[in-house]
Amino acid sequence: VARDSIGVGLLGLGVVGSGVARILLERASTYRERVGVPLILRRVLVREPEKTRAVELPADLVVTDPRLILEDDSIDIVVEAMGGLKPAYELLAEALTRRKFVVTANKEVMATHSSELLGIAQRSGVDILFEASVGGGIPLIAPLKRDLLANEITGLSAIINGTTNYILTRMAAEGITLEDALSQAQALGYAEPDPAYDIEGTDAAFKLAIMAGLAFRTEVVPSQVYREGIGRLTPRDFRYAAELGYSIKLLAICRRDDGVIRARVHPAFLPADELLAKVDGVYNAVQIDGDLTGKVLFQGQGAGSLPTTSAVVADIIDCAHDIALGIAQQPQWRINPNAEVGGMDDLETRYYIRLTVADRPGVFAEIATQLGKNMISIASVIQKEADETAQSAEIVIMTHRSRESALRAAIEDLSALDCVFEVGNYIRVEG
Ligand code: NAP
Ligand code: HSE
Repeated sequence: VARDSIGVGLLGLGVVGSGVARILLERASTYRERVGVPLILRRVLVREPEKTRAVELPADLVVTDPRLILEDDSIDIVVEAMGGLKPAYELLAEALTRRKFVVTANKEVMATHSSELLGIAQRSGVDILFEASVGGGIPLIAPLKRDLLANEITGLSAIINGTTNYILTRMAAEGITLEDALSQAQALGYAEPDPAYDIEGTDAAFKLAIMAGLAFRTEVVPSQVYREGIGRLTPRDFRYAAELGYSIKLLAICRRDDGVIRARVHPAFLPADELLAKVDGVYNAVQIDGDLTGKVLFQGQGAGSLPTTSAVVADIIDCAHDIALGIAQQPQWRINPNAEVGGMDDLETRYYIRLTVADRPGVFAEIATQLGKNMISIASVIQKEADETAQSAEIVIMTHRSRESALRAAIEDLSALDCVFEVGNYIRVEG
């Protein structure tokens, strides 16, 4: 049935929710033209109604009881910008069951529960859109769902967390600490409500699970994504990376080789002249390899209130358009279960290894023996710094392509050597 207005209920009025509320109110007449009928913000759910907000709303719009949104028949679209699994998942499931369209910025919910939510949406004849869940303002979900459909996608490589890319950029350029850079990212509204999600690679793993699922038309859950955060990186790693001609980025990579999908998030050395190595600050970039398109690169601001608002509001307009015209909706994506998702053991890549070792003759030979025993071939070794008092030296080893399982065994063997005081770090080298 065609409608004369579309009601929106918003869950959350933080960084993202405030942007969405503000833009819906400020651009009401523009969106009325685009949709054909007014798009009306009817209710907003928060925890603490007294809090000062980035947007001023009439007091009667702000509620603390989600039932006032879920049970309101004048609300057609529920927009979720709360974050976390609970209570977000139950609220979205119920909204879909009640035949409301859902728009969400929540990557944790989409990475963990997309098949359940998709199933409910299909049974209810509505849709769930989640463009803002990956890459902030960058169009990624719609291209994966639609524009690249004719391709077999072989893989994608991405910088997909704005907070960590901002932190790594500041650490590399200015040598500031991770903690100081994180405080600034939080003040700019880039970080997750719990910033450990950014630092430990969890947020990027959620996003990679979503993208891998769409790219390979299957279900990839977060526990299948290998994950390492940026917490072990030190100023020395940045210095040595720069000296060797590399940048350090938190990369999210998934590939399908011989039918096996492998998805991983970890810091990586990238040759400084590669496209992804030049993506700095809050910018994200996703490079997708399609068999027809070749490499396609999407780039833009991956976090922050207004870029994310752009993606959320586009999804709202998309739903509203169909509701206004009375078009019965069906989700435009499907999940085929049973894809094989592999672990890291068989991964082959190059590695940077930083060791603090005894500064005495014969040490290189001992280290080379352990690496050789594990079939790790050395590309270069550089002694970086010596500490006369401690009689130690720091050495940096770059390997040729090696198997991950072999590298891990070699690291264990190196750690057991008397001449190795510390394995400072080991980082995969991509590109
Ligand atoms: P935020 O600033 O912490 O805002 C969260 C909002 O949700 C707050 O208004 C909070 O209410 C409300 N809320 C949380 N739990 C609630 C509950 N149980 N009941 C009622 N209200 C509740 O977070 P954000 O940065 O906007 O992020 C929100 C979502 O968007 C997350 O899923 C995040 O991953 C995603 N996202 C964020 C960005 C970004 O750049 N920030 C970009 C893309 C996607 P109170 O204000 O009353 O506490
Ligand atoms: N905390 C996330 C990031 C927000 O920094 O990328 C955008 O999803």
